[in-house]
Amino acid sequence: MRETKAIYPGSFDPITNGHLDLINRSLEIFKKLTIAIVVNPHKKPLFSVEERMDMIKRAVRSDKRIVIKSFDGLLVDFAKREKGTTIVRGLRAISDFEYEFQMALMNRKLYKDLHFVYMMPSEKYTYLSSSMTKEIGLLGGDIRQFAPSLVVKKLAEKARELGRQKRK
Ligand code: PNS
Repeated sequence: MRETKAIYPGSFDPITNGHLDLINRSLEIFKKLTIAIVVNPHKKPLFSVEERMDMIKRAVRSDKRIVIKSFDGLLVDFAKREKGTTIVRGLRAISDFEYEFQMALMNRKLYKDLHFVYMMPSEKYTYLSSSMTKEIGLLGGDIRQFAPSLVVKKLAEKARELGRQKRK
């Protein structure tokens, strides 16, 4: 069966320019894209699901081809609920490969019809990650080249909020 839509799952804590690059690349292949934000109870995200969703929504400027959802539990179950069989993921460097390879094959064991499509972001984003963007932003560094302007603003707000909590 030919697929016209894909699911792009991730933590998006927060969305970066690397994610946006991948979203744009995906839309050159697929007509529709569902961005799936994992709730992720293990990782303790900095931003709530609502905040992450809002930042993505504004960063993609309400593009009609994009739907933004969140999910709890297994990716395969979300894909089944969405009737989606194609997952897109970014592959930045060899260091990503091992985890992605394992994840794709494990997921395929759970849901044999699920396909993973990997795309390389522009080389200018190969070093970029949400975690480093967060760390630099929270420590007062300039992250304007790494993330959309709203994320830059939200991280600065978080840094101030965390600073206030520390002083209490
Ligand atoms: O942005 P991330 O943190 O690299 O995204 C990882 C994600 C969300 C794709 C992965 O952790 C995931 O699918 N989590 C849902 C739980 C699940 O299905 N785990 C089994 C993976 S084999």
